[in-house]
Amino acid sequence: MNRKKLAAAAVSSAIVAAAAWAVQALADHAASPLAGVTGGADQQLIERGRYLAQVGDCVACHTAKGGKPFAGGLGIASPIGTIYSSNITPDEKTGIGGYTLQAFDRAVRHGIAKDGSTLYPAMPYASYAKVEPSDVKALYAYFMNGVQPVSQANRATDIPWPLSMRWPLRFWRMIFAPAAVADGAPPPEGSAARGRYLVAGLGHCGECHTPRGVGLQMKTLSDADPLYLSGGVVDGYLAKSLRGDVKDGLGAWSEADIAAFLKSGRTGHAAAFGGMKDVVEDSTQHMSDADLTSIARYLKTLSPIRGPEGALRPDETVALELRAGTGAGNGALTYVDNCAACHRTSGAGYGGTFPKLGLNSVVNSDDPGSLITLVLKGGEMPWTKAAPTHYGMPGFADRLTDRDIADVLTFVRSSWGNRAPAVTAERVAKLRKALGAAPPPNRPENG
Ligand code: HEC
Ligand code: HEC
Ligand code: HEC
Repeated sequence: MNRKKLAAAAVSSAIVAAAAWAVQALADHAASPLAGVTGGADQQLIERGRYLAQVGDCVACHTAKGGKPFAGGLGIASPIGTIYSSNITPDEKTGIGGYTLQAFDRAVRHGIAKDGSTLYPAMPYASYAKVEPSDVKALYAYFMNGVQPVSQANRATDIPWPLSMRWPLRFWRMIFAPAAVADGAPPPEGSAARGRYLVAGLGHCGECHTPRGVGLQMKTLSDADPLYLSGGVVDGYLAKSLRGDVKDGLGAWSEADIAAFLKSGRTGHAAAFGGMKDVVEDSTQHMSDADLTSIARYLKTLSPIRGPEGALRPDETVALELRAGTGAGNGALTYVDNCAACHRTSGAGYGGTFPKLGLNSVVNSDDPGSLITLVLKGGEMPWTKAAPTHYGMPGFADRLTDRDIADVLTFVRSSWGNRAPAVTAERVAKLRKALGAAPPPNRPENG
């Protein structure tokens, strides 16, 4: 479809969706499943809400750097300007203290603010639409009774007029956001079903891990579609595929590996970095072991995208060459000088401390965005209760040229049994610029 046709289709589907939505909205009101909850909720419900707020990671977006929890004001970049998160503390004037359960639900699951305007999809309501009403009730009880009210006015977006007008967002919502799940739907039964519910709904994993389409919507919300959780890009990092592919998905990860990664931010062979570091710190480390196992079990049900493919096999050639000093080429030399102290000439790293680079699912992803960003900026493992010592990797932006970074990553991606496409210096230069990383050292001989 070309752009014009796409736009026409979007408008006509918007009209159909609008009609369907109006009918649904009326039905929702008639049978309001959320009726009857007020501010004074019981302690158990509040505690369940506190837990669910961690699963939903509300704090990550609704707390400014150095700001009070849930008071909002965190800037979230969008292609048209910066959007600021709202104050969701129960302050009457500046927060959501005056929200009824219905108003809260309309914001969280339907993307509609109290004044009837549509929220920017930076608030992940397209995912939260999958949250069951009983869980929304618990969240509401927590926000009304378990959160300290903070008086802090909301900040308007930096988006210039006319793009700042909110009414077009309504069309986005009607086309791309699914209807919120109804009350009385049978609760997910069995561990994998519980995992599926958490991943699609409160966990909003697809907001990062599913690729986005022309309207910046998640390309699919259905796990019957192989694009689901097949990888998206966030802040230069690849929120990689969580599907069953052995090479670059979770095919080679056990259920226990996945659960350990989400709980402690690391496994014997990998560590969380980029946006996933914050997800682990703020959200998944607080989940119960049962819920983490459910998520892991569910992720292991996602089929590989590429069909049967040979698993990667360890290959010692490069390690032997490096040890013998015969590994030549700028990539190998750059690796020995800058990376091998931690990741070792064998690429095996040190379990739980420095990740293993051989046969690693991040290293073997087709898109090298994460690797380039990590080498430019460095990283720090998440801090978690389960693994309180966090190790870091320095950034190399000011020490390595674009050529060096491309060569060392191409080397890493083709050594020890790894099999991923080469990295170009152009791609490194582009990301260096986009991320505002330090300029390269002045060594013209390496380009
Ligand atoms: C990925 C970031 C992100 C996460 C996670 C997130 N929010 Fe939001 N939320 C936002 C942004 C941004 C806005 C403001 C959108 C706008 O101004 O259009 C918002 C708006 C809201 C509003 C509307 C407030 C108003 O003024 O009407 C509510 C309520 C809300 N969020 C609750 C929650 C809850 C509860 C959670 C956790 C279950 C949550 N949010 C998680 C980004 C997020
Ligand atoms: C804010 C964006 C974001 C959200 C939300 C998010 N992730 Fe991630 N995730 C990433 C990024 C970026 C990476 C790549 C860096 C890394 O491997 O740590 C990643 C990596 C991972 C990995 C490691 C895979 C591998 O092969 O190394 C797992 C497992 C994972 N995420 C699971 C989840 C689950 C489950 C959820 C939902 C509960 C989730 N993620 C939500 C951004 C996100
Ligand atoms: C001081 C030790 C150290 C050095 C030197 C170092 N790294 Fe790392 N590396 C780490 C640590 C620690 C992590 C985990 C970072 C995180 O979680 O944010 C990591 C993570 C990685 C990862 C992600 C692996 C995964 O699955 O989590 C890659 C790829 C990587 N390093 C490549 C390199 C390359 C290439 C170099 C040289 C240019 C290098 N590292 C230099 C310590 C180091």
